[in-house]
Amino acid sequence: MNFTYEKTAAIRTKHTIFAGAKKPIGISPWDKTICSKMEAVKKLQMVDLISQYNKIKPEIDQAVQNVITSSAYINGPEVKTFGKELEEYLDVKHVIPCANGTDALQIAMMALNFKPGDEIITASFTYVATAEVIALLQLKPVLVDVNPDDFTIDCDAIERAITPRTVAIVPVHLFGQCANMQRVMEIANAHNLYVIEDTAQAIGADYTMANGITYKAGTIGTIGTTSFFPSKNLGCMGDGGAIFTNDDQLAARIRMIANHGQSVQYHHDDIGVNSRLDSMQAAILRVKLPHLNDYCQARQYAAAYYDKAFANNPKIKTPGRMANSTHVFHQYTLVLNGVSRTALREHLEKKGIPSMIYYPIPLHMQKAYTDPRYKHGDFPVTEQLCDHVISLPMHTEMSDEDLAYIAGSVLEFINK
Ligand SMILES: Cc1ncc(COP(=O)(O)O)c(C=O)c1O
Repeated sequence: MNFTYEKTAAIRTKHTIFAGAKKPIGISPWDKTICSKMEAVKKLQMVDLISQYNKIKPEIDQAVQNVITSSAYINGPEVKTFGKELEEYLDVKHVIPCANGTDALQIAMMALNFKPGDEIITASFTYVATAEVIALLQLKPVLVDVNPDDFTIDCDAIERAITPRTVAIVPVHLFGQCANMQRVMEIANAHNLYVIEDTAQAIGADYTMANGITYKAGTIGTIGTTSFFPSKNLGCMGDGGAIFTNDDQLAARIRMIANHGQSVQYHHDDIGVNSRLDSMQAAILRVKLPHLNDYCQARQYAAAYYDKAFANNPKIKTPGRMANSTHVFHQYTLVLNGVSRTALREHLEKKGIPSMIYYPIPLHMQKAYTDPRYKHGDFPVTEQLCDHVISLPMHTEMSDEDLAYIAGSVLEFINK
């Protein structure tokens, strides 16, 4: 969906005065003027992939062309090289590229030899893929609530959910910051559990453990998984995913499972799947990986702008920060208090501003995941968040003008 808003020539002139200088973050009277006078056409989107592409177009086009002329479309050298480059970026021993982030989770769980009925603890407030693969493998998803401020898994609730059948914890680094990995690892070590970090939304984030060592998100637990879906912080131009581990044996097993259960061609030692990152996606990711830190910084800048604009407003809660984690803002998600979310979204839509609800229905209230163990009211934080969150446009190409317009439009509605 594309939206448009308008800006006047007068505003454009004023904006150029500020263009060279680093403007202080926040809504200034000047920004408010922009909000009320915008006239010329500009598209606002939740994620602006085209503007991002245009900045690196020659390199991307060349990379794709090289793959075409090489004809090494599957398992070509680009895939191997991208894997190595991502290992270096993440400082992890093994990166195994695969077809998408859902497969990455599934393969991780297959590699750990879980048995049907084994229990896996994960967050009730997440994208469905996390629980989907658990159920698909005939394992038992055990849902626990999340923290109200940072939206990540509630570690006290993890401890309460552990039973003799628990085999693993899957913390989801939701919206771009790590769950409390210090506690997660302490709990996992105390109970001899595996940890699979779902890093689909947080690639590039850093987490510092109590010993002072900083790790990249996804490299602390037994296995980390990620998605390169186009809108992700490191996105390709199709589907893609990867699995990370520091364990040599596990890495070999993951590679084998992702490749039909074979490590020698036509010798199938286990039941596997066919999950490959294709060479074009790998080539595109190789161009984008060196920009990942800048992409994260651009998102952090936008988030800081929003934070300042909405600070101390009793009707809007800005995203809380998890101690010891950086936040790479895959999403910028507000919690509304005493505001009609539907009416706010309609107001924004009229002004050409898209918004999204991540996520509108808690996992335990989804038809496919209905379970006699769970009922409405069991996960109060998740349920409250599903009713009150709203995500604003967040991507790498946001101008101060965009941010002022969006924040100003939200405040115009909230403060009326
Ligand atoms: C938290 C989380 N886990 C897993 C996935 C699955 O990734 P993919 O869409 O690449 O299968 C996503 C994708 O949105 C996600 O957000």
